Amino acid sequence: MGEVIGRLIDVMHGRLVPLEGVKSVMVHFRDREGEVERFYADVRRLRGVVTLYGPRGAGKSTLMRLMGEGIREVGGFEDTLFVRYSFAEVMIEEAHVSIPGVNEGSVREVINALEDAANGVSLNLSPFGLAGALVKPIILLSRAIRSRAELRGRDNVVVVYDDVDKFLRRYGGYDVLEAIANATADVITEHDAPVNAVFTVSDQAAVAAAGRLGSKGRVYLLWNLPRGAFEDVVNEAAGIMNVGNVDTELLWNLMGGNMRELGILAGNYNWDVKAWLQGVIMRVTAALEGYGRVREIKSISEVLARLIRKGKSAADAYGLGEFVGQPDAVEGYFNLLEENIMIYLGMPGCRYLSELPREPWVGGRFAYQIPAYYWALRAMIERGSVNVDSDDVIKVINKSRN
Ligand SMILES: Nc1ncnc2c1ncn2[C@@H]1O[C@H](COP(=O)(O)OP(=O)(O)OP(=O)(O)O)[C@@H](O)[C@H]1O
Ligand SMILES: [Mg+2]
Repeated sequence: MGEVIGRLIDVMHGRLVPLEGVKSVMVHFRDREGEVERFYADVRRLRGVVTLYGPRGAGKSTLMRLMGEGIREVGGFEDTLFVRYSFAEVMIEEAHVSIPGVNEGSVREVINALEDAANGVSLNLSPFGLAGALVKPIILLSRAIRSRAELRGRDNVVVVYDDVDKFLRRYGGYDVLEAIANATADVITEHDAPVNAVFTVSDQAAVAAAGRLGSKGRVYLLWNLPRGAFEDVVNEAAGIMNVGNVDTELLWNLMGGNMRELGILAGNYNWDVKAWLQGVIMRVTAALEGYGRVREIKSISEVLARLIRKGKSAADAYGLGEFVGQPDAVEGYFNLLEENIMIYLGMPGCRYLSELPREPWVGGRFAYQIPAYYWALRAMIERGSVNVDSDDVIKVINKSRN
């Protein structure tokens, strides 16, 4: 790892981040060395539009925030300028500008202009107006880099549009994302701007829209935390909250490193794993139910029967052995992709920022966003019925893992 990146990682690891859903519990930011290193290596080498996706709550926003803030604290990023716009449902909630190595007073106007650009984004804009408002910072930056001595030589500019899908969902759908990303790519080229415009998204429909950009953009995948780091966070949070007897192995097999789910378990379910798992089972059931409703399939049992038929023939065709819900046999059908139960790994040209764990819930082309979805569906498949509870799911895990 480069020395500069190593220092940045150290600073990031010194930071605390909120355990979402639990008021006032903060945990250390963990892992992500490989992600930061790969991200910066590409930023230095390439320019253009990047779609950053990954499971919901995997840590995309946190990674972008801590990188952007961290580069200000360590030396070695004097060639970098990092701007992050955090979207909420109806507006940009936060605009954050990092220009390491300058006296910020001397570039106050530029910072103000970049921050003000956030105010121009609203639900009332036409699609054309919205695209215009979103490329504005890039145009501003490319001019500032040329005209201002303090900013000369900033070859690595990152502009993050974080959680842009949250806004676009309210705005009227994700189709406009393709147009926005296209316009952004064109502006970067026309202005010969050394900019990487990063759109972080997590809804599958938004990912698909971004995927249609084709060769005009790059796609990066960020995964949940790896096992060791996840277990460290679990122990840290359990320690702060004074809960004993936490089964970190079981939690890995249920959450697969997803920190949002850990927050939900701690905050909403008071660490009651079975109650949390019951909620997870309901999400899977609801996805299948929604599939049946739209297609006028008379019962959810019939949807499961179809899933099993489809899965068996795919498992046969791909040589996956007995069908137990393998992601590459289920392939995101039956609403599982749309409802963000599963995730597609085969986006054209996708670069894995993270190493994916070698676990049964992760396939080559598809994965479950968290393992609990896999085990819940597997329990249903093995029983031939959607009526399974937390104990059934935990039994399936224990049977398969021991
Ligand atoms: N590396 C990490 N170490 C510890 N906690 C983390 C880490 N990354 C993220 N978290 C925590 O995980 C939770 C989810 O993170 P975050 O909001 O960044 O996910 P996301 O991928 O952006 O979610 P969404 O899909 O909704 O956009 C937060 O509580 C955050 O503090
Ligand atoms: Mg996010």
